[in-house]
Amino acid sequence: MPTNFINCYEDVSRAGAYSTLEFANTYYLAYRDLPAIIAEHVTGTRALDFGCGAGRSTRFLRKLGFNVTGVDISEDMLRIARATDPSGDYRLVPGDNFSELEAGAFDLVLSAFTFDNIPGAMKASIFCGLRELLAPKGTIVSVVSAPEIYTHEWASFTTKDFPKNAKARSGEVVRIIVTDHQDRRPVEDIICTDESYRALYRDAGLEAVQMLKPLAKGDEPYSWVNETSIAPWVIYALKPGT
Ligand SMILES: C[S@@+](CC[C@H](N)C(=O)[O-])C[C@H]1O[C@@H](n2cnc3c(N)ncnc32)[C@H](O)[C@@H]1O
Repeated sequence: MPTNFINCYEDVSRAGAYSTLEFANTYYLAYRDLPAIIAEHVTGTRALDFGCGAGRSTRFLRKLGFNVTGVDISEDMLRIARATDPSGDYRLVPGDNFSELEAGAFDLVLSAFTFDNIPGAMKASIFCGLRELLAPKGTIVSVVSAPEIYTHEWASFTTKDFPKNAKARSGEVVRIIVTDHQDRRPVEDIICTDESYRALYRDAGLEAVQMLKPLAKGDEPYSWVNETSIAPWVIYALKPGT
């Protein structure tokens, strides 16, 4: 586990750039299928947006009719989330301690890209913590970067300057640049394979009831690069195991 890993979203300028992203280009594919996945697996309206950032994913859930609490470790991100959505509920959390949130209270926990920035050992304790927050029939929907995102070019990202990404093993740092916003400093993520995620779920007592790797169809109004043949994201629906 990289002990010196820094969450690049604790940064005023990066938070400002990130807050301009909406649902276009490669990000479109991360959100396109969420309403159907949520409709299939979630009953009830109480939601936690784990790693809400500047609130894009929280506002998305609010528009779907959820009563949402957004949590994040970055005050810079939360400041923007609150300013954009003053009636929303956005809270700073320590990162892997959810004691201020009500156990068993959430029908849905959404995590959109949050685990891309969390080192391995911490991922394990966070999945256990999120499981405790779920209502008995609750569901975690986790959108993560596919390992392939770090070795290809995309409508929203470039990785060609980082050939070392191709050699990174699960749990190691990889770099990627978001081309949809102004901040062209590389983002440092932790690459994590499907195998590693499934081991984490098993250890946390979670069962993957659905996995989706979204591909573009080709008729969307975006200039796709690899999105019609390689999935940039992986979406998991997770339930407490029996
Ligand atoms: C890539 S952003 C995604 C934000 C938002 N979900 C969206 O879709 O726009 C990831 C966010 O996760 C947050 N994050 C990283 N580790 C976290 C942790 N342990 N607990 C809560 N938030 C975390 C970061 O601060 C950042 O705001």
